[in-house]
Amino acid sequence: MRMVDVILKKRNGQELTDSEIRFFVEEYTAGTIPDYQAAALMMAIYFKGMSADETAVLTEAMAASGDTIDLSAIEGHIVDKHSTGGVGDKITFITGPLVASVGVPVAKMSGRGLGHTGGTLDKLESISGFHIEMSKEEFISNVNKHKLSVAGQTGNLAPADKKLYALRDVTGTVDSIPLIAGSIMSKKLASGADSIVLDVKTGSGAFMKTLDESKALAQEMVNIGNKLGRNTIAVISDMNQPLGYEVGNANEIKEAAEVLQGKKVEDLRNLGLELAAHMAVLAGAFPSYQEAYQALEQKLDNGEAFQAFRTFISAQGGDLSMIDDLSRLPAAPHHVEVISNKEGFVAEIDAESIGVAAMYLGAGRATKDDKINHAVGITLNKKIGDPIEKGETIAVLHSEQPNPADSLTKVKEAYKIADDKPNKHQLIYEVIK
Ligand code: URA
Repeated sequence: MRMVDVILKKRNGQELTDSEIRFFVEEYTAGTIPDYQAAALMMAIYFKGMSADETAVLTEAMAASGDTIDLSAIEGHIVDKHSTGGVGDKITFITGPLVASVGVPVAKMSGRGLGHTGGTLDKLESISGFHIEMSKEEFISNVNKHKLSVAGQTGNLAPADKKLYALRDVTGTVDSIPLIAGSIMSKKLASGADSIVLDVKTGSGAFMKTLDESKALAQEMVNIGNKLGRNTIAVISDMNQPLGYEVGNANEIKEAAEVLQGKKVEDLRNLGLELAAHMAVLAGAFPSYQEAYQALEQKLDNGEAFQAFRTFISAQGGDLSMIDDLSRLPAAPHHVEVISNKEGFVAEIDAESIGVAAMYLGAGRATKDDKINHAVGITLNKKIGDPIEKGETIAVLHSEQPNPADSLTKVKEAYKIADDKPNKHQLIYEVIK
C-alpha cells in the first residue's frame, strides 16, 4: 500500500477502507510514514470529513497503537468522565467523590493543563504530598479500597494520538470533528473504563463555540463509544463563562472542597450532580436518573461525598490538614483587584481570556515544559447577569507580582458590561445517548 494513494483517495472525497486507516496509523506510529504525508491526510480529512465507520476504525487503531490498561482486577462496573476542556473546570473533584460515595468505582487517568485550560493533575498537586505516579497495582488497590483514584496517563497510552495531535496543532487541523472525536475516544478506550460520560463544552471558552458543532462532536463520540462496546453518553454544558468563581490550581481545589462541604455554588453543584447521576446510572447503581440524583444530593448534603474526597486525597499521600483548613493551601502574596469603570450588568465573560490571564499569572503553561505556580489564580466576584457598580471589584488576581499588568488587562477585556440585564445561559443544553 502506498501512503500517497490513501491521501489521494481522501482528497477526492472517497471513504477509506479499514486496512487503509490501520496502515496509516500503524506506519505513522512506527515512523515509516513522514510527517508531511500525515499532515496532508489530516488536511484532507479536515475538508472531506470521515464517515462514522471510518472514525470508529481510526479511533480503534489509535487506541491499539500503545498500552491498553487492563482494569479487570477492579471490582464493579467502572465509569469514567471526560470533559472536552474549559476554564475553572474542577468538576472531577466533585463527581469523583460523589460517585465513589455510592460505591461505584472511578479509576481516572488524567492529564496536565496546556494553554488556557487547566489540568486535573496540576490542580491536585497543589496539595502537599499528593502523588499521581503509582504502580498499576497501587492504582487498582486504591480503587478497590476507596472507589476513587486519579493517576497520570502512562507515557505510552495511544502514542499515535500523541504524535498526530502535535502535528495537528501546527498544521491547522485541530478543529475537525472526526479527528477530535477519535483523539479523545482513543485515550478513553485505551484507559479501560466500562462506561464513559462525556462533558462536551460549548461556548466562548470551549473548542466548539456553537451548540450545533458541540452536538455533532458529542454525537460522534457517543457513536464511537457505543460501537466499540463502551456505554457512552454525552452532556452538553455551557462554557460561555468559567465554571464556578475560582480559576487556578489551589483556588480550584479550595472551591471544589467548599462545594463538597455544602457551599451552594450553583453551576458547579448542579453540573457535578448531573454528571455524577449519569455515571451512577451507567454503572447500574440506580434504576433511574432521578433516583441517582436524589441519592447523590443526599451524599453531598450529609458530608459523605466530602469524606470520600478526604479519603482519596489521603490515600494518595495528600496533606489532609490543607483540606480541613483550606487557608493552608498555597497562597500568593499579592491580591490585585480588577475594578469596573462602568455600572450595569455583566453581559459576557470570555472564558478563554480568563484562562489566558490565569496562565500569564503562572497558573498554566504556555509551552509544555513551563512550570506551574499552584498559588496563583483568579477569583471572579461577578458572573453573567450580576449587577455591578462603577468602582466595584469584578475579580481579584492572586499574583506573585504587585502589578500583573498583562493579566489585569486580559481580565478587563474578558468582561463586557451592558446597561440591560442579559438572559442567563442555560447550564445544560442537552444529553445525547
Ligand atoms: N482534546 C484531545 O484530547 N484531542 C483533541 O483533538 C482535542 C481535544
